[in-house]
Amino acid sequence: MTTMLALHAQDASSGLELKQLPIPSLGPEDVLIKVYSAGITPGVIKLLKMGQSAVPTTVGHEAAGVVESLGDKVKDGLNVGDRVRLHPILSCGKCSQCQLGFDSMCDEAAQMGFAKFGGRTGLYAQYHDGALAEYVRVPRRFVDRLPDNVSFDIGAKLHDVATALRVLKLAEVNQPNSTIILTAPTGTMGTATLKLAKFFPNIKKIILVGRRKERLESIKHLSEVETVVFPISAPPQDSKPSPGPPAGALSGPPLPSPIVQQLKELAPEGISAIIDYIPAGPTLGQILPALATRGTIVHMGGNPTPLQVPLVFIMSKAWRLVGNRAHTRDDAQQILNWLQNEEFVISDLITHRFPLKEAHRAIDTIETRDEALWMTIIEVIPEKV
Ligand SMILES: NC(=O)c1ccc[n+]([C@@H]2O[C@H](COP(=O)([O-])OP(=O)(O)OC[C@H]3O[C@@H](n4cnc5c(N)ncnc54)[C@H](OP(=O)(O)O)[C@@H]3O)[C@@H](O)[C@H]2O)c1
Ligand SMILES: [Zn+2]
Repeated sequence: MTTMLALHAQDASSGLELKQLPIPSLGPEDVLIKVYSAGITPGVIKLLKMGQSAVPTTVGHEAAGVVESLGDKVKDGLNVGDRVRLHPILSCGKCSQCQLGFDSMCDEAAQMGFAKFGGRTGLYAQYHDGALAEYVRVPRRFVDRLPDNVSFDIGAKLHDVATALRVLKLAEVNQPNSTIILTAPTGTMGTATLKLAKFFPNIKKIILVGRRKERLESIKHLSEVETVVFPISAPPQDSKPSPGPPAGALSGPPLPSPIVQQLKELAPEGISAIIDYIPAGPTLGQILPALATRGTIVHMGGNPTPLQVPLVFIMSKAWRLVGNRAHTRDDAQQILNWLQNEEFVISDLITHRFPLKEAHRAIDTIETRDEALWMTIIEVIPEKV
């Protein structure tokens, strides 16, 4: 067999097509993975449309499977037949960000099957083809062995879980008995974050801020930390972003809106961190004044809505506002270790499965979110358990 089924983008605007493509040929330091499970996320489609993906390309950045073949120079004990996952975040391994362990912030950083982020394109130009396919070619240093007790499905979705771990680390919740806010918690990232919160013992309570009450209620059981639901209905499409405090209010506390007052009642000691996965709209601006002095905002949703906050508040409250792309190699390894040691389970987060041939139905389900959906797997080869 010389061809494989793959989900392919010809350009940024024509949409994705399932087609037969040549199986990639290997360079000396490459590994060919026969994909069993792959993930699919809204970001893949979003960044393709934004023009951040090299095209034409095969898409998909999350996958696990079995080593099919090895390049001539791969002689470190990895064997044909080994169970592995792809670490799709390409990095140079040499720059200061890489040396400090922040490889996802490397200037060459890009995700296979996803998008380019950094200024330099080197590795991504060669390895932009992704894993929503029967086979994917990966440089050896971005292949991780899967422990025997970690399924291909979990190996594929580990990417999102490791990103959730990075987010919790960035929140730096240092005060014991802290309350944090988690926004848009009813999707992949939010549910993964809920699962991991127990590893951060200073987090005592999580306020779940989302747009649908019943979905918020349905995720409460995922967390070993106490949770409270706090629905905020989405404002009309044409509404302006939250105006923030009136002009001239250059000092003093932010105006307490009813939303902020209610949040403060839920956490009288203040909110230590806001983890924000909301992809669009003004919600962060609405809840921000509830953040405690020295609180942290971790924004991950890629929200294009401007945040209208007088800088003087950031100064006088000593707030930290941080963003991030994905996670580090160490984060991924930490999740693999926890899974190997059975310190937590994430298999219950997989709510949807589609065969590769039905990738378009998967994309439609992800984009409309008409169904409650946490994690989606594309089964390329169903695993026999
Ligand atoms: N920076 C990074 O490295 C990184 C990594 C992963 C993801 N992300 C971004 O983080 C966001 C969440 O990712 P995900 O994988 O969890 O997505 P997902 O599985 O599709 O979940 C989307 C979540 O956002 C909510 N939501 C969608 N549109 C909304 C809106 N207009 N207003 C309020 N809530 C809305 C959904 O609520 P319902 O359940 O009510 O639909 C759900 O909770 C995405 O924007 C993604 O691109 C960034
Ligand atoms: Zn680097």
